Amino acid sequence: MTTRRDFLSGLAAAGFAAQPAFRERAMTSLLTASSIAGNRAAADIAADESYWAEIQRAFDADRTMINLNNGGVSPTPSHVLEAMIRDLRFSNELPAEHMWRVLEPRIESARRDLAAEFGCDIEEMAITRNASEANEIMIFGLDLKRGDEVVITNQNYDRMIRAWEQRVRRDGIVLKQISFKVPPPSDDYLVEQFRAALTPRTKVIEVTHVTNLTGQIMPVRRIVDLARPRGIEVFVDGAHSFAHFPFKRNDLGCDYFGTSLHKWLLAPIGTGFLYVRKEKQKQLWPLMAAAKEQDENIRKYEEIGTHPAANHNAISAALAFHRGIGSDRKVARLRYLRDRWAKRLLSESPRVRLLTPLDDTHAGAIALFHVDGIDNIQLGAWLLSEHRIVNTPIVHAEFKGIRITPNVYTTLDEIDVFTDKVLHAVRKGIPNSKSTS
Ligand SMILES: Cc1ncc(COP(=O)(O)O)c(C=O)c1O
Repeated sequence: MTTRRDFLSGLAAAGFAAQPAFRERAMTSLLTASSIAGNRAAADIAADESYWAEIQRAFDADRTMINLNNGGVSPTPSHVLEAMIRDLRFSNELPAEHMWRVLEPRIESARRDLAAEFGCDIEEMAITRNASEANEIMIFGLDLKRGDEVVITNQNYDRMIRAWEQRVRRDGIVLKQISFKVPPPSDDYLVEQFRAALTPRTKVIEVTHVTNLTGQIMPVRRIVDLARPRGIEVFVDGAHSFAHFPFKRNDLGCDYFGTSLHKWLLAPIGTGFLYVRKEKQKQLWPLMAAAKEQDENIRKYEEIGTHPAANHNAISAALAFHRGIGSDRKVARLRYLRDRWAKRLLSESPRVRLLTPLDDTHAGAIALFHVDGIDNIQLGAWLLSEHRIVNTPIVHAEFKGIRITPNVYTTLDEIDVFTDKVLHAVRKGIPNSKSTS
């Protein structure tokens, strides 16, 4: 439970005091929200609209559309955007001085804040531009020989699969893509799919902590425990997990983890991180070359040439906002919004199927649904073109549906308009559409 004291100390710990651009409006919203919350449990606050109305005010969201694709990328709160813009303007006045000398060293504050939040050492935290960069450092960074085997699932993120496929073409490694049912019957079942694919030649497993297709939370800890005694490295693609629900590095036990921060942390676009356990840094090459002296320095993964300091410096302001809400409260609200549409669709139509388990261990905000007897891709297109509801049609070789992802600034009205429109389509069909799944 996040108390007012936790909230204030969270701001301090996340460097709030050092963030002059943490605007009064956002500060007032968070403080008002915090007093509304008092010491109540997260589940209680999840349904308190007076609390969430304050959080919604921290964003300049385009309310002429209903944004239910917060899985791809999310808006940052207005004060975080302003911090970044302020730094961009300042940089541009005299980049070599203002950006390189004044602003760039402040990346160390963002590193410190992220390491504290993830539960690792500062020297294990590299700041990247997104999850793709973090994950590709892992995928291309480990020495693998011809014939070495890598196990992933066919629900890993497509860019990561393409990166592995390039290694297959270039280095002759063997890529095994396992399949699993959606929703999966149990964690035991998932772990067993991985176990069955391992051989004495398996060197790496890449597991997606939360899949982008259905929002399924994978049993990462159990996969790490399966792999480590066999000497297999586990790369965790955490693009959708960090700051989505509470967990720390030690809960996963992993040695490598990559994420984007412009999804669930609500940091500015173009931010992510790569965690590499200290003793693994020497063996994992950076994507862009670094000096030999940097072999065991986490900053070797940040040798990317000239880049804006503004983006990564604004991470601390986003983290302060995140801590102001608190991880428990945030995910309780996200699940509340998810259940509001998903459970209503399920209860009002036997033709709706959820491909995401609606329980707290296995999913957060993201869920995938399918309506039998309708072309689901056309349904998504109709929601967007006729009702300005942004959604994510998903087409996978083994299933399809529409992915819905609200965020903390989503209103109940927006969820209800979306649900009403889907039910309308279920009952009356989509104009000019043929009935097919
Ligand atoms: C599971 C997963 N991994 C990696 C990525 C890549 O993230 P980014 O585009 O921010 O690099 C995404 C993006 O949606 C994703 O869903």
